[in-house]
Amino acid sequence: MIEIQNLTKTFNGKTVLNGISFEVKEGEIFGYLGPNGAGKTTTMRIILGLLKPTSGNVLGQGQNLGENEELRTKVGVLLENDGLYEQLSAHENLDYYAQLYGISEGVARKRRIGELLDFVGLSDRMAEKVGTYSKGMKQKLRLVRSKIHNPDILFFDEPSSGLDPEAQRMVRDLILRLSKEEKRTVFLNSHDLDEVQRVCTKIAILQDGEIKAYDTVEHLRRRFSKPIVEITFVDNEESKRAVDFISALEYISFCEAENAKVAVTLKGKDTSTLLSTLMGAGIKVEEIKKTSKSLEDVYLDIIHKGREQNE
Ligand SMILES: Nc1ncnc2c1ncn2[C@@H]1O[C@H](COP(=O)(O)OP(=O)(O)O)[C@@H](O)[C@H]1O
Ligand SMILES: [Mg+2]
Repeated sequence: MIEIQNLTKTFNGKTVLNGISFEVKEGEIFGYLGPNGAGKTTTMRIILGLLKPTSGNVLGQGQNLGENEELRTKVGVLLENDGLYEQLSAHENLDYYAQLYGISEGVARKRRIGELLDFVGLSDRMAEKVGTYSKGMKQKLRLVRSKIHNPDILFFDEPSSGLDPEAQRMVRDLILRLSKEEKRTVFLNSHDLDEVQRVCTKIAILQDGEIKAYDTVEHLRRRFSKPIVEITFVDNEESKRAVDFISALEYISFCEAENAKVAVTLKGKDTSTLLSTLMGAGIKVEEIKKTSKSLEDVYLDIIHKGREQNE
């Protein structure tokens, strides 16, 4: 649906995007993840034709999205700091945008606005001035405003940023409903891995102008995360003794102690082999369990690796 080809962007000699490529397929909830200042908003603005790339292409349905007016009407957008008319009611706000998008006045427009307000549960408050709304309610209104003209793909730039946890959850639920119930494609910018993990089907991690990872959430977890065995020993002494012993075993690729807890990565052998070896050596194990790295660990690993390379 959208194809980014070798995109670069330089601001006053500073390279923000250094040749990035990826695509967003129809029906995906694509998470564009990266720390603040990574270049997420810049990428989105280029895709939307609001900013010119230094080089590279953005294709939407085979055409240059930035230069195609008709394609742009198929796109819904919620950018950071997008305003609402605080003196107008929710209904009036949507009515104004409906008019901007050329939806002619009358029964159909009224019905459309009614549906949108229902979708976000604001119908009973629609006559109140938006200035009296909570942050979360305003964001819900902005979200449905972005789909007033029935776009195929929605672009959301950090839509839950600055909201309290409950409102964040509402926003996430809405995005999921847009995808599940309405089969819309969503391009979501976020610096919050947890959000992306809950909502998105596919993610790209942007850092230092490059895409560091680009895959489904499940694949990323599998590709980057290693099963880890966590062993708790009776005390720190026992744990120290165990670390020396475990590190010397040929099927251990990683072993690190934190007080009485030791994290171990095995290669080619399973947990029960390790347990019986430890018991055979008379080392007292209090607890042993298998865990795996969360996607958050993976994300932080990627970001930290990038930082170290830069130093
Ligand atoms: N119009 C601009 N002029 C100069 N620098 C900019 C401009 N827009 C963004 N930048 C810089 O580009 C980098 C990426 O910004 P941005 O795309 O907003 O990051 P993100 O959305 O990932 O937080 C930042 O260092 C920012 O200061
Ligand atoms: Mg941004």
